[in-house]
Amino acid sequence: MTSDDREDDADRNHDNDHDHDNDHDLPDPHNLIAAARDIQSAAHVPYSEYRVGAALETADGEVFVGCNLENANFSNSLHAEEVAIAEAVKNGHREFTRLAVSSDRRDGVTPCGMCRQTLSEFCEDDLIVFCDEGEDEGPTVYTLGDLLPNTISEETLE
Ligand code: THU
Ligand code: ZN
Repeated sequence: MTSDDREDDADRNHDNDHDHDNDHDLPDPHNLIAAARDIQSAAHVPYSEYRVGAALETADGEVFVGCNLENANFSNSLHAEEVAIAEAVKNGHREFTRLAVSSDRRDGVTPCGMCRQTLSEFCEDDLIVFCDEGEDEGPTVYTLGDLLPNTISEETLE
């Protein structure tokens, strides 16, 4: 998502208060969810046949995407959120605003416990997390703090 897209989102929002998500007063997440859907085509899922995409927005409006990459040794599988955050962090980003997660079943999949912890290393409690429920329902919206309260962090180890 470019900053132009974000302005477009904001404009659309102005026209239609319906685009606001639950109680979070934020621009339309449409583009972020679209990115999480698009990257599912790159997923490697011969075992689960369950495609997941994640799109992570940086504070300066860039979007990094990831998809699940499974392994014959199951436990080595990479999750979509891990791949997205690795891509963002290795490109120098440390501040994030929003994450969209989507499966090809549009079932509102949330980041698993491991991914919540991985996200919490680089994202604050107020990171917005959109979980894709498909076109009819609109996304379910959480914060990372909702999904993982009282987590262990760098401060814990000081
Ligand atoms: N999966 C993710 O990519 N992200 C999550 O946090 C939930 C699970 C993937 C892992 C595996 O490839 C498939 O979904 C089924 O668990
Ligand atoms: Zn996960």
